[in-house]
Amino acid sequence: MVRVIVGTQFGDEGKGRAVEFLAPHSQVIARYQGGANAGHTIHINEEPLVFHLVPSGIIYPHTLCIIGNGVVLDPEELIKEITLLKEKGISIENRFFISPYTHIVMPYHKLRDDSNHSIGTTRRGIGPCYEDKYGRRGIRLADLSSPEILEEKLKHNLSIFKSLPQDSANNLEFNSIYEQYLSFGKFLSPFVADTALLLNRWIDEGKEVLLEGAQGLLLDIDHGTYPFVTSSNPHSGGASTGLGISPTRIDEVIGITKAYTTRVGKGPLPTRLPPDIEEKVRECGKEYGATTGRPRRCGWLDVPLLRRALMLNDIKQIILTKLDVLDELPEIKICKEYKNMGAEWCANLENSEPVYETLPGWMTSTQSIRKYADLPVNTKRYIERISGLLEVKIMAVFVGPQKEATIEL
Ligand code: GDP
Ligand code: IMO
Ligand code: MG
Repeated sequence: MVRVIVGTQFGDEGKGRAVEFLAPHSQVIARYQGGANAGHTIHINEEPLVFHLVPSGIIYPHTLCIIGNGVVLDPEELIKEITLLKEKGISIENRFFISPYTHIVMPYHKLRDDSNHSIGTTRRGIGPCYEDKYGRRGIRLADLSSPEILEEKLKHNLSIFKSLPQDSANNLEFNSIYEQYLSFGKFLSPFVADTALLLNRWIDEGKEVLLEGAQGLLLDIDHGTYPFVTSSNPHSGGASTGLGISPTRIDEVIGITKAYTTRVGKGPLPTRLPPDIEEKVRECGKEYGATTGRPRRCGWLDVPLLRRALMLNDIKQIILTKLDVLDELPEIKICKEYKNMGAEWCANLENSEPVYETLPGWMTSTQSIRKYADLPVNTKRYIERISGLLEVKIMAVFVGPQKEATIEL
C-alpha cells in the first residue's frame, strides 16, 4: 500500500506528527519535494525535534527512509540532522538513501532568496534553487562527487550571480565554496542510491509506503495562492515526479488538516481571527514557525479552500490536528462559503467575503481524552460538522503535540 501525506492548508498542519502516528505501520518513508523550508515536529521521549529534510519516520529504526529527486537539498542542514540523529543514538546506516538527482541549495541561492521580502519566504534558498533546476544549470548531489563538473558548474553559476546587482555577491568566493561542497559530497556519498529503483522494488515487494509531503496544497506552485506560494508541488502529484514512481502506484492520499487555519509569510488569509482571539490561539497552539520562528497568522477553518485541496488530491480521509487548541474558545466559527468567489478563486480571495457558521465551544480540556465517545458533545459536533461539510472521513483526531494524544476513529 502506498499512501501520500498532504497538507491541505498553508503548511504546518502537523504532517510530522501524522507521519509519527502512521510510521509504526509503515516500512518505507520518503520525502518528495521542498527542502529545508519545511519544519516537521515530532517527539522523542517528550522532547520536540524539528526535521527540515530527513523524513520524520527516521526515528523508527524499522523504517527505510528516502530523500527523493524532487527535494532541493541543503547539505549543511542535512549534515546537521544526521549529526543530531547520531547524538540521539538513531542509526541510519543502510536505511537512509538520497537520490543523486536532488538539486543542491548553494550559498548564492540563500542570498538571492526573496531579497526584497516581497513573498515572505523562509529564505532557505528554495525558490532560487528550483529556478536553477528548471533553468538547467543546477548543481545536483551527483555533481558533488565529480570535481571537474562541480568546478565548471559552480564557476558558471557564480558568474551569473555576480553579474546581478547585489551587495552580498562580493562575499562569495569560488575556492571556499568549491572545497566545502566537495567535502559535503564526500560526507553524503554513503547515502547516495538509485532511490527510484529502490522505491519501485519495495513497492513491488508489497512494503507499506508513506510519502511525506512538505508545505501544503495552498502553497503549491500551480494550485496555491500564487505568487504567495512555495516553488514546488506539495500536491500529491509531486510525489510521483519527485520520487520516480508512476501515479498508478499511489493507493491513497491522506489529508492533514488543522482544526483551524494558520499561515506564515505573506499572502491572503480571509478567515483571519480578530486580534484577541488570534493571540489566544497563537499562544495556545504555539503558532510560531518551526523553521524561522516567525509568528503564524491564525484564522477560522476554511471549508471552501479545504474542499479544493480535497478535490485536487482526491482525499477521502483526513487527520484532524490540534483540536485541543480550541479548548478554551466559547464560540468557534467555520467559513462555509465565500460571497463572490469566481473561477479565478485565488486572485479573488483577498476580496471575497467569508460566510460563517458559528458553533458553541466546549470550554474544557480535551488533551487527555483518548476515545471519541469521551469527547464533550460540542467537540463531537464540531468534528462531525467538519466531516459533513467536507464529505470526508476523519481517520484520527490529534488533541496534543505528543503522539499519545491521539483519538482514532
Ligand atoms: P508540519 O510542518 O505540518 O509537520 O507541522 P509543524 O511541526 O511545523 O507544526 C505543528 C506544530 O503543532 C508542532 O509544534 C507540533 O508539535 C504541534 N502539534 C501537532 N499536533 C498537535 C496537536 O494535536 N495539538 C497541539 N497542541 N499541538 C500539536
Ligand atoms: P512545512 O512543511 C508553512 C511558506 C513561507 C512563505 C512561502 C514561500 O513545515 O509545512 P519558501 O521559503 O518555500 O520559498 O516560502 O511558503 N512556507 C511554509 N509555511 N510551512 C512550511 O513547511 C512552509 N514552507 C514554506 O513562509 O510564505
Ligand atoms: Mg512546519
